[in-house]
Amino acid sequence: MRAVVLVGGFGTRLRPLTFTTPKPMLPVGNRPIIENLVSMLSQAGISEVVLALGFKPEPFMAAFPDGRCAGVALHYAVEPEPLDTGGAIRFAAQHAGIDDTFVVVNGDVLTDLDVGRLISFHRETAAEATIHLTPVDDPSAYGVVELDDTGRVKRFVEKPAPGTAPSNLINAGTYVFEPSVLERIEGGRKVSIERETFPALVAKGSLFALSTDDYWIDTGRPDTYRQANFDMLDGRRRISGCDAVAVGAEVDSTAEVDHSLVAAGTKVGARSVLRDTIVLPGARIGDDCQILGSIVMGRVESEANVVDCVIGADGIVSAGTKLASTSRPDPSQS
Ligand code: GTP
Repeated sequence: MRAVVLVGGFGTRLRPLTFTTPKPMLPVGNRPIIENLVSMLSQAGISEVVLALGFKPEPFMAAFPDGRCAGVALHYAVEPEPLDTGGAIRFAAQHAGIDDTFVVVNGDVLTDLDVGRLISFHRETAAEATIHLTPVDDPSAYGVVELDDTGRVKRFVEKPAPGTAPSNLINAGTYVFEPSVLERIEGGRKVSIERETFPALVAKGSLFALSTDDYWIDTGRPDTYRQANFDMLDGRRRISGCDAVAVGAEVDSTAEVDHSLVAAGTKVGARSVLRDTIVLPGARIGDDCQILGSIVMGRVESEANVVDCVIGADGIVSAGTKLASTSRPDPSQS
């Protein structure tokens, strides 16, 4: 079976990191998100992954020059213009000539779901499309899904007022589709799979959903992207964890790496302290820096103090500067 992975979005919420690196190419546990995803798909027997590309396709092609990722063959489908999720699925599936049951995955979701189980459920119910659901503590910020006893989707409720949600289950971004779903997506224009195609399938009674409590995270925001890395570091995943300091990172022996991840192709200077921080490929951290709760892709010069910040590839924190996110209250003002 083949899978389409959506990787062509702008990733605006993760700017400035995504100005230079598309979100699915950012590392989680020192491996690009896309590699984590393809590895999960290979365990379910997926034989080819179609990358639905749009924004910045080149980094994907450069990262997998032999056209394989985690042992799986890749097919590159580059959209001429952004088509949104539904339009991108249709374009990529047609580009690859998909004409059988297939899997679709959002390129920014990480989960320990057994995709094979979702496929089996899809076949048992003879659904036209099946979506994976995950429970959340506060459903009022999401689109919530209501099911009947057989797993058929009855309706979607967008951002229900607190206390009124029919369930706490939300779309977790992994789907199994029959090729007939493609005929329901109009060609050549932007189509949202979530807002247009799924409601049309609900009206036909042919959309089913399977809820599981497997590990799940949407890596699309700085806080959740950081959390996804910590979950890997702290061993909260079904898959094995990762090293805090990747092979190929130059970390001075006097530096302190505390609950942080340091990628290959980075430098961390003498006596610098990293706490709850992600250091991304290309980052340069000088001597005697203190970096707390941050994500660094650019340069932090000596004796700088950085708290709760996201520093993009072009970002420079000059020597001796104290930089803190405005979202953290300044203790000196209280
Ligand atoms: P934000 O701009 O921060 O919302 O991120 P995003 O661009 O990734 O959008 P969103 O998280 O809603 O997208 C979900 C998934 O669909 C991500 O994996 C995106 O890469 C992908 N995606 C969104 N829009 C498009 C598109 O127009 N074309 C393609 N190929 N993929 C898309």
